This record gives sequence, structure tokens and C-alpha cells, in this order.
Amino acid sequence: MQKISNGIWKLSFGEPEFHTPVSLSGLTIKKKELDALECAGTPPINSDRIVAALTSRGVRIELPLKQEEHVYGFGLQLHRVDHTGRKKVIRVNSDPIADTGDSHAPVPFYVSTAGYGIYVDTSRYATFYCGTNLKKGESEHKRDVAKEVGTSEIELYGYQVTEGDRTVVIDIPAVSGIELYLLEGPDMGTAVQRYNLFSGGGCLPPAWGLGIWYRAYSAATRDDVMRLAHTFREQKMPVDVFGFEPGWQTRAYSCSFVWDDKRFPQHQEMLEQLYGMNYHVNLWEHLFVHPSSPIYENLKSLSGNYEVWEGLVPDLALPEARQVFAEHHTREFIDQGIAGFKLDECDSSDFVHSNWSFPDVTEFPSGLDGEQMHNSIGTLYQTTLKEAFEGAGRRTLSQVRASGALTSSYPFVLYSDLYDHKVFIRGVVNSGFSGLLWSPEVRQAESGEDLIRRIQTTVFSPMALLNCWRIPNPPWMQTDREKNIRGEFSDDHEAVLSICRSLFETRMTLIPYLYTAYARYAMEGRPPFRALVMDYPTDPNTYDIEDAYMMGESLLVAPIITGSSERDVYLPQGMWRCFWTGEQYEGGRSYHFVPGLERIPVFVKDGTLLPLAEPLPYVADDVVFQVSLRPYGEDARVCRLYEDDGHSFSYQEGNWNWVDLSLQEGGVLTAQRTGGYEGIRYEFTGISKID
Ligand code: GAL
Repeated sequence: MQKISNGIWKLSFGEPEFHTPVSLSGLTIKKKELDALECAGTPPINSDRIVAALTSRGVRIELPLKQEEHVYGFGLQLHRVDHTGRKKVIRVNSDPIADTGDSHAPVPFYVSTAGYGIYVDTSRYATFYCGTNLKKGESEHKRDVAKEVGTSEIELYGYQVTEGDRTVVIDIPAVSGIELYLLEGPDMGTAVQRYNLFSGGGCLPPAWGLGIWYRAYSAATRDDVMRLAHTFREQKMPVDVFGFEPGWQTRAYSCSFVWDDKRFPQHQEMLEQLYGMNYHVNLWEHLFVHPSSPIYENLKSLSGNYEVWEGLVPDLALPEARQVFAEHHTREFIDQGIAGFKLDECDSSDFVHSNWSFPDVTEFPSGLDGEQMHNSIGTLYQTTLKEAFEGAGRRTLSQVRASGALTSSYPFVLYSDLYDHKVFIRGVVNSGFSGLLWSPEVRQAESGEDLIRRIQTTVFSPMALLNCWRIPNPPWMQTDREKNIRGEFSDDHEAVLSICRSLFETRMTLIPYLYTAYARYAMEGRPPFRALVMDYPTDPNTYDIEDAYMMGESLLVAPIITGSSERDVYLPQGMWRCFWTGEQYEGGRSYHFVPGLERIPVFVKDGTLLPLAEPLPYVADDVVFQVSLRPYGEDARVCRLYEDDGHSFSYQEGNWNWVDLSLQEGGVLTAQRTGGYEGIRYEFTGISKID
């Protein structure tokens, strides 16, 4: 067992593979920040309690799991939160219809309520049996227990998951060695922080990335785009990011990475107009390269030996391939002001009717095979564009459909529009265990009510995104797709629009708070969105909660799904206050809420001095937020905000501040800045009381 860093231990067995997430990512471990975390300084599991063996399939690992332990993680799991007693296969799949472990972003990492984490460094389709089996002989003590045979289904087939200490068995195929990392707590949240700091810390998005995102109709032309862009500003609908869907390119499946000048004549002029209106522009694409693309020839020898959608699958594990891809993107798009990309379809699917994937036996010039590439391609794709934006000196926040291990520092948010609202929320809860961000995007809605419910979730999420690629008009005008396409607007569209606007404004109000939560993610590895169990691991009532989550340090968000106007919310130990009314609730129990259509239950920890910005229509580069402070509870006295220029990397040279606010007796507010940033991003307007 080798100590890697404060609280991180590595166990090596046999001859590990050359290509693994650690070797591919060129890890920059945040050692100093890890040193600042409390820990016992001993491996959380003794090496003599860990079994590692070569098998005919690869390597088998066994780790102990105590009866009372519950395990979480494995990336963006959309079917359940608590994986105890389950089998999970770490395999990228765009359409994970069953609870198998398959995911857009599976990660071979789990954390336990006992306060430690286990990371297995592999890109293989590893299988984790999380206490599904007892070892031979472990039930022998039951030999003499006289028991009448129960005949109900639960008695016959009921699973013994809760009985006694168990084992986590990990099957890593096709390898002859492995490196296993053990991450200390002392608690689950700290183990997750350690994983994120090991991965290079969390990402710090540009401030504009925390505003509202709107992706326009796939078939939109230049005129359509400009009409929408003007309408948002005229109607005072806050929108920061304008997304172009497949129609902007000359070829989309596979991609040419070239503007279609018929649909978008003089596209640069259009872009300049959009920038002039303070929009940031994001372009949809995927990485399969069409024969007509200007980068095709250069990438041909740097690609796998099978095509997808008649295009090349570039081997982005090769620096030369990344360079060809990145140079084109930098020259044609990033240098032309494009602020980010939507990296679609990189979770390529083997299992749907229109197979769009490469076989697991594909050979890539770097030496990766198809299996490893499936589990790495989303990350490599992100690496390519992350490096391109770093080269240009501008931060991005972008979207991606596949990710994996060690990606917390990547400024990409996962998405997929396949799911129902409940699953979207579970994704927010789960992604925080594994250094991922997930957007519960709003695509289609069944009704005005459904639209509002979905927007309520998205404005309290990592990325507030409306993905309107299937409708030409904003969904608040009409949710019925056919009618929307025909331009027939619903009778109540003004009422729906006004509720949507006020929800967007709530999001804009929370940007300084959220930006600070992201700064803690970057610096301390603390996920900005977390399951309740991560903050309250000793409270078994939180173990199964998959419909509520923490946002930043002080907010608990409990969305409402269409069709129900009420719900129960479990508030953990401590005092809480309603975000909207300030009403006080004692934690440690559930409450029933009927908040009406315009709100969802959101709670603030008692004692929070919450920063609320005057809502802006967009976050300009030179923005100065007008911030008031709202005390939730009598003891709400201090608030800390992160401040920097919001868009460049100069914060990495120390150009950032902590702004410490303090509410003195008599209601006087003082602000003190410490740090190297000389600008001002916040002006404080005083105390705001709830009406
Ligand atoms: C899907 C993606 C959608 C949309 C569409 C365009 O794969 O999830 O959000 O971009 O492609 O073809």
C-alpha cells in the first residue's frame, strides 16, 4: 500500500494496463488542498483484508463491506441512488434502460456511509458486486437454526442483503493487473472531496454559464435565430447562452465542422450581432468525422478501424489527433467567439435499433481497443476541447453526453433528453458522488404546468437548460409540438411566460451564491449539488432520498413532478427555513407541502445570510451584481462570496477574492475583501427582508 497524498492510498497488483483513466488524464492532483483535509492518516481498509487474484477473465478484487454500510456512486446512475446489494457494470451506454450500471457516465468509484471511497483505475467494463453474495461457508452457522419454511414470495426469494457483513467483489476483465485507490474520510463527503481533488479539483465555470441556456430549433435559419434572440431581450426573458443544434453544419451525422452558408449566410456577422446582445454561443456537434470535412484526411490515419455514421472515429488518445481536432475548432470557432460546444452522441449506443457505435474489438492506433475507447471517448473528447479553450485563455462551460472517471475538473455538464422528470432529478442527486454535473434539461413538456415544473427543477440545478431543438417557438408559447411548429400559441401563454420569467429571475438571483459553490468545488472538491446522505451520512432517513438534494452549502431543493401539487420533504437534523416565506421548521422529520404552481419546496439552513442578486437579463463580462443579503434566522450574521473576473483563467494566478460579509448589531453590513483580484463584481445594497 503506497501513500499517494494526504488520505489517498494506492494498492498495486500484477501488471496494470498502460491505458487507464489515470494515465490518459495526465492527472494534476491538488496536493496542497488535500493536505488541508482532515484525516486519520491510515488506510481505511487494511491491505490484509483485501483480496486480489488473477482469474481466467482478468482480475478479481474483494473488499469488506460491513452490515451497516451503504454504498453510493458509480457515476451518473439513473435508476437508483443506494447501490448496496446490487451489481453494477461500468459500461458507457446512451440508453441505460435497466438498473445494470450502464450509463452515459459510469465511474469505477464508490463511497461508503462508513466514510471512505474506493476507486479502481480501469477503462474496462468492470463489474462491482456490492455485497450481493456471501462467501462459501459464511452461512454454515445457520445449519442448526430450526425454521419453518415460509411460503410467501418475500420469504422464498427475499434477498439477504441486510444479513451480516458482506464483501464487494470486483471483476475487471481482460487485465493482468490493477491499481486500486483507497480514499479516507473521515466521512463520506470528505471522501468525495478527496476523489475530486485527486482528479484535479472541481471545474470553475464562467459566470455566464450559470445563467439560462436556450437551444434553438434544429431547422432554424439565421432569421429565425435572430428573431428569437430579439424576442428574449424584448420580453425580458433572461437568457445567457444561445445553442445551435445540428442544422448549423453542412453535414451533421457524421459532422463536417463547417458552417452551412445557405441556412446561415454570413454567419460571422450573425454571431457578432448575437455577441453584441450579450449572448454566448454554443455549437452542437459530435466527434464522428464526415468524409467531406476539412479535417478528414489529416485524421484518417489517426482513427479506429471502423466507421460510425459513415465517419471516422478519431483516436483522441493520440496527442496528434487531439491537435488536428483542436486546431480546427480553435481557428474556425473559438477564435471567432464561440463560447462552448455540445458534445453529442459520444456515448455511442450498441443496443438501439439504429446501431451507432464501433465494436468493442475496434483497434485504435494508440493501442486502446473498442471497449476501453467506449469508456474513455467522452473524457478524451472533453480533454480535446478543454485544452483548446485553455489555449485561448477563455473559460468555457459546455455540454457532453458521455463522461467517466476523474473528470471533476472538466467544465462540461452531462445531459440527455431521453428521461422523465423523476429520473432527471435522480441524476442531479447521484452525479455529485462521482465528480460529475448533470443537467435536468427541459425538452418537451406535456402542458404549461409540466413545463413550469420542469423549469423549476432546472433553475435549481447545475445547468439551467431549455433544449428546444424540436420546436421553433419557445415552449412557454405552446407546449404541443405540432401546434408550436404551426405557430399556434396557447391561450394561457402569457401567464405561463410570466411564471417562467420569474423562475429564470430566481436563477439569476442565485448566481453569486452558486458561483461561490462552484468555487468551493474547484478549490476544495466539494460538489455544488449533493445527495442529502453525503451531508448527513449518520441519518438513515437520508439513505434512500432520490428526489431532493443540497445546492451549495445552505439550500435544500425538493422539486415537484407534474401531476402532483404537493409532496413530503424530509428535513435532516437542525433548523430550516422556507426559502420563499422564511417560515421555520425543525429538522429530523418529514413535512407535507402544497406550495402552489409557482413554487417548489426549497429550504435554507437556519443561520444563513443568503446573498441574492438583483436579477439581470444576462451576465456580461463586466457585470457588477447588486447583492442584498437575506437573513434566515436570528443568528444569520456572516456570508462568504467568491469573486474574480468571471471568465478568464487569471484566478489561477491568484486574481480572486473572498468577500466576507458580516451583519453587525443594529443591522449594519460590512464587507471585507481578501485576495488578489482588484476588480469589483459585487456591490452590496443592504439587508433584504422577506415581505
Ligand atoms: C440528440 C440530442 C438532442 C439533440 C439531437 C439533435 O442526440 O440528445 O439534444 O441535440 O441529438 O439531433
